[in-house]
Amino acid sequence: MSPVYQATASAPVNIAVIKYWGKRDTKLILPTNSSLSVTLDQDHLRSTTTSRADASFERDQLWLNGKEDEIKPGSRLATCISEMKRLRKEVVEDKNLAEPKISQYNVHIASYNNFPTAAGLASSASGFAALVASLAHLYALPVSPSTLSLIARQGSGSACRSLFGGFVAWQMGSDAAGTDSLAVQVAPQEHWPQMQALICVVSDDKKGTSSTSGMQRTVETSPLLQHRIKYVVPERMERISKAILERDFDTFATITMADSNQFHAVALDTEPPIFYMNDVSRAIIALIVEYNRLSIANGGGYKAAYTYDAGPNAVIYALEENIKEIAQLIVSYFPQKPGEFKDVLGLFGAGAADVNVH
Ligand code: ADP
Ligand code: DP6
Ligand code: CO
Repeated sequence: MSPVYQATASAPVNIAVIKYWGKRDTKLILPTNSSLSVTLDQDHLRSTTTSRADASFERDQLWLNGKEDEIKPGSRLATCISEMKRLRKEVVEDKNLAEPKISQYNVHIASYNNFPTAAGLASSASGFAALVASLAHLYALPVSPSTLSLIARQGSGSACRSLFGGFVAWQMGSDAAGTDSLAVQVAPQEHWPQMQALICVVSDDKKGTSSTSGMQRTVETSPLLQHRIKYVVPERMERISKAILERDFDTFATITMADSNQFHAVALDTEPPIFYMNDVSRAIIALIVEYNRLSIANGGGYKAAYTYDAGPNAVIYALEENIKEIAQLIVSYFPQKPGEFKDVLGLFGAGAADVNVH
C-alpha cells in the first residue's frame, strides 16, 4: 500500500485592536497601515483544516463546511496553495531533504469553521491560517510562523496574524514585493493571561459589504483614511505595543476603543458610506462608556474596551476580574430576544498557544 500524505491543523480567530482597513496592493494583499490583534484562545471560534496530497488527484479541490468551494485560477486560494507547493519544493525537495516530491501532487483540502462564515467574526483569518498551517504540516516545512504569515496574508490579510498566539502585530512593510509585510508576536498570551475577550454576537448573518470590497472603496474615496494611515496608526501601534508590554489596561482600552471608532468613521467617510454597526452595537458602546465612567468616578480605571470589526458584533476586552460582571451587565441589558441579540459567547481567554497542529 502506498503511504498516505495527510495533515490536520486548526487555527483560532484574532480580533484586531488596531484595525487593518485598506490595501496598497490588492493582489499581494499589502496593507496601507500596520495592525495589531489578540488571538483568541478557545474552542468556539476556530477553523480546522485537513489537507491530503495524492498522485491520483486530478486537480486541487477544497470543501468548506462540507460544500465544495471552487478554486478559481489566480484566486487567493489558488495563490496560497501554489505558494505552499513552491515552498515545499524550495526548502525541502530541491535540497533532497525528503522523498517523494509531493509538491507535484494535487491536494484535497477539507475545512470546517465551528462558527458562522463571512459574518464579521473573522472566519477568513482563522480559515486561511488553518489552511496554510495544515499544508505546512503536510509538507513537513521547517519554517517559522512569520514565513507562513507571508503566505496566509495572500489569502486574507487578517489571516497572517492568526499564525501566532497572544498579542500579534502585522508589520505593513515597505517592500513592493511584500517580503517584509508579515506578522510578529508582540507578547505571548502568558505575558498577560488576565486579558480576556467577550464576544457578543449581535447578528450572525452574512455581512452586506465584504471586508475586501468595503476597504477598497474606502481607499478610493475616503480622505479621512489618508489622515489615519499617516498621522494616527503609526503612533497608536507604538503606544499600544508599549501598553501591552507594561500590562497597562487603561492605555490599552483607550487606544482600542479609539481605533474601533476611527475605523467605523472611515467606513462612514467612504462613498457610498458603509454602516457596519447597528442600534444594538451602539447601545453596547453606550453601556461600556457608562460602566467605565462609573469606575473612573469611583477612583478606579477603565474596566472594559469594546471593538467592532466589519459587522455589528461587539468584542469586549477586559481583565479576568471584571469579565463576569460585564457579561452579566450585557445579558441584563440585552435579554436574548430573537432578532435582537443572539448570544454572549461565553468567557474566552484571549491569546493562545501557537497554532495548534495535531
Ligand atoms: P469574515 O468576517 O468571516 O472574515 P470575510 O468576508 O472576510 O468574512 O471572509 C469570508 C471568506 O473567507 C469566505 O467566503 C471564504 O472564502 C473564506 N473562508 C472562510 N473560512 C474559511 C476556511 N475555513 N477555509 C478557507 N477559506 C475560508
Ligand atoms: C475589520 O482580512 O477580512 O476585521 O484581506 O480582503 O481578506 P481581506 O480582508 P480581511 O479584513 C479584516 C478587516 C477587519 C480589521 C482587522 O482584522 O484588522
Ligand atoms: Co475577514
